[in-house]
This record gives sequence, structure tokens and C-alpha cells, in this order.
Amino acid sequence: MADHSTVVAASAARLEDGGKTVTLPVVEGSERERGIDITQLRNQTGLITFDPGFGNTGACKSAITFIDGERGILRYRGYPIETLAEQSTFLEVAWLLINGELPTPVEAGSFSDSVTHHTMLHEDVGRFFDSLPKDAHPMPVCAAAVGALATFYQQPETDQSIQEAVTRLLAKMPTIAAYSYKHSRGQPFMYPRNDLEYCSNFLHMMFATPCEEYVVHPVLAKAVDLLLILHADHEQNCSTTTVRVVGSSRANLFASIAAGISALWGRLHGGANQDVIEMLERIEADGGDVQTFVDRAKDKKSNIRLSGFGHRVYKNFDPRATILKKASADVLNTLGVSSRQLEIAMTLEETALRDDYFISHKLYPNVDFYSGIIYKALGIPVNMFTVMFTIGRLPGWMAHWIEMRNDPDTRIARPRQIYTGETERAYTPMARRVRT
Ligand code: CMC
Repeated sequence: MADHSTVVAASAARLEDGGKTVTLPVVEGSERERGIDITQLRNQTGLITFDPGFGNTGACKSAITFIDGERGILRYRGYPIETLAEQSTFLEVAWLLINGELPTPVEAGSFSDSVTHHTMLHEDVGRFFDSLPKDAHPMPVCAAAVGALATFYQQPETDQSIQEAVTRLLAKMPTIAAYSYKHSRGQPFMYPRNDLEYCSNFLHMMFATPCEEYVVHPVLAKAVDLLLILHADHEQNCSTTTVRVVGSSRANLFASIAAGISALWGRLHGGANQDVIEMLERIEADGGDVQTFVDRAKDKKSNIRLSGFGHRVYKNFDPRATILKKASADVLNTLGVSSRQLEIAMTLEETALRDDYFISHKLYPNVDFYSGIIYKALGIPVNMFTVMFTIGRLPGWMAHWIEMRNDPDTRIARPRQIYTGETERAYTPMARRVRT
């Protein structure tokens, strides 16, 4: 693998404050992205930077995923997402993200074999599900189960034990996801089957029952594989940043991933895929009046946003949404399923993309806009959509966690703040306290 990880000081930026000028180095990445290195800023000037939401902050150097939001480019380890979506499998992509190179046939075979042989959960983890309410959303159930894995695997951290934890998590996440669904349905857990590949095995654990065999439709397994590839990494998004931040304290991999799952659950992040389908259902129930909904999404007072639209980084198009729009039409076609919601989604997209508000705000469909339509056609329950995203994002989280741990520049994440509270004041004894 070519080493592009050394980022050189290419030039300098000058900052003036109160008559004093400081020179700050500029770092440049392999795709010519440039950033001002402010690590010495506070030492030299007493100033910190202020950037709520970190929209302009590079928190690390990373060699995993490249995004050019203006040109709609997404590459994992240099490979375009379009090529990986067409030619790879999810497990190959997981290997690529974690190890930096595509696996050879021997590596791919032994990796797949190793993942297959770690899919079973300890019986006590299975019982752990019973202590959670049946109507619990599966996302906190998954976060709790992954956190609980930390109590089953307590080996001291070495390269070897981290490698084992990576394989275990990748293997057990679909089992945990399917168990969280079975638990909510009051159905018996289905054990993994070693004769099935990754996605077919997941569908078997979701939909089989002890009463009858479930034959996995290859179109379904292929569609799930595609969705997982598209979700596998997205550089420093909210959940990946969470995983890195938690891991920076030297918390273990299971604990860091559990935190990532919680971050992903939010409706502005992975939870948007559930929101999108609920939005489409609402529009359908209201008679399919797309224009009225778009108008409400533009009205700040309505507190409504068009779910599945907009992105912090993509300002032209999200390449994953382009792939998924086509895939959703293909999957529905192959399965012979008609979907009023796909029709509404396409009208909604056309209406929004013609609208000045969405044009001027550079708001386009994101990955979550079409993924729910495919999940629904595959029979995945709506509250499991974000869990599907979780299975997909897992290798990306783990690749970042490992990169963070191996990076000599990593320090515990500890931002500063601009304090806006009371300045020092005298303590009021209890007897003299009144609220006016
Ligand atoms: N509908 C209507 N207006 C929007 C939308 C939307 N979906 N998204 C952003 N805006 C407006 C927002 O009101 C603001 O307007 P103004 O400048 O006039 O006040 C402007 O666009 C910028 O929005 P922002 O919230 O400052 O942008 P952000 O980069 O902080 O947020 C986002 C990005 C994805 C959270 C946001 O676009 C959003 O809430 N989208 C809907 C939720 C969604 O689809 N999330 C999934 C993201 S992709 C997958 C993932 O990351 O998990």
C-alpha cells in the first residue's frame, strides 16, 4: 500500500490579533485538502478557535475514506464507491477498510471463514435480551448488547486481542440485530447457520422460525449486501467521531462501538432512514400532496425538515443516493413489488430539486432517502432500518478506532469552550434565597 499518511507542512497562514502576527503551518493531504494547523495557537496567542458542530475542524489525519462533497466523490481506500458497489462484497469492503487493501482470494476465504465461525452469541448474551422491554427500539437494544459484549471478552488489549474483537463484532452484529428483532416480536432466536454467507445468514436469523424453513431470496441477499457496502464508512461523521472520541480515552473497542451506535440512532444521522419512510407514509395518508409537504419543510416555523435531504459535506449530490435510487427501482421491479412510496419519493425529489429554497441551500437527497424504500420492499420492519445502517457502518467505525489508536498524534479528545455563564459571585446562604 502506498504511504500517503505523511502530511507535509506545505505553506503557512498568518493570523493577526491585537497587533501581533503569528504564523501557522498549513498541512496538506494526498487529495490536496489543506488545513491550518492550530495546535500551537493557544500557546502563542491565548486564542482558541470556535466552530460549533466542527464544520471547519479537521480532528485527525485519516487514510481511510475520501469525500469530495462538491463533486459527489466517495472513495474507500482510494476505490470509488460505484466500483465497490458493483464488484465487491460487504466482507471484502470490511477487510479493505480495516486493513487498507483488498483481500487476496486466500485472505478473503479465511476472513469469511473466521467471521462465520464467530457469529454465535454466548447463551448468557441471549438471556440478556430477556431483561429488556419487548417494545424497546432495537437501536438501544443493540447498543446495550454490544456494550455487554465487553463483559464477556475482557482480555488485555494487544494487537491480537483487538484483531479478535474486530472479527467477533463483525460476526456477532447481525446476530445481535436479528435477536433484537426477534425479542420485539416475542419469537425464538434463530441460531446462525454456517452454510450461509453473511447477508443470507442475517436474513435467515431475522425471518426463519423453528416451525418452517426460510429460503433466502438471492435478490434480497444481494440488495442487503449493496446497502451495507454503501454504509460502510463515511469519514468523520457524527457516530465515527463519537467512536474516535470515546476510544481516545482508551475505552475498549466494544464500549466505543456501543457509543457509536447510540450516536447513529439520532434522526439527523442514521435515524433519518426511519424518518424518511414515516414521512412518505404521512404524505401518502394525507392524499399524496407533495407540494404542501415541501412548503412546510421550507417554513422554519413548522419545525419540519425534509428527511433524507441535505448533508454537511455533499453540496451537489450524494453518490450513494444515486446508486440507491436505481437499486430501489431494480429491486422492486425484480421482486414484482409496486410501491406508492417510491412514486411519492420520486415526486418529492423532483419537486424539491426544482424549488429555489432547496437549490439555494444546496439540499439534495442523501443515502437515507432511498434506502428505506428498499428495506421496506425486503420486508425489513421500519424500526430496524437504522439497525441495518449500524451493521453496515461497523467496519468503518472499527477501521477508524484502530487508526486512531495507532496514530502517534492521538491525544484524548478534549475540546475547549467559550464560557458565557456568571462571573464570580458571592454565595447566598439557603435562608436568604428567594426566586422573584
Ligand atoms: N429540509 C429543510 N431544510 C433543511 C434541511 C432539510 N432536510 N436540511 C438543512 N436545511 C436548511 C436548514 O434549515 C438551514 O437553513 P438556513 O441556513 O436558512 O437556516 C440550512 O439548510 C443548513 O442546515 P444545517 O442544519 O445548518 O446543515 P447541517 O450541515 O448542520 O446539517 C443535516 C446537515 C444532514 C443534519 C441536515 O441537512 C438535516 O437535518 N437533514 C435531514 C436529516 C437527514 O436526512 N439526515 C441524514 C444525513 S445523511 C446520512 C447520515 O449522515 O447519517
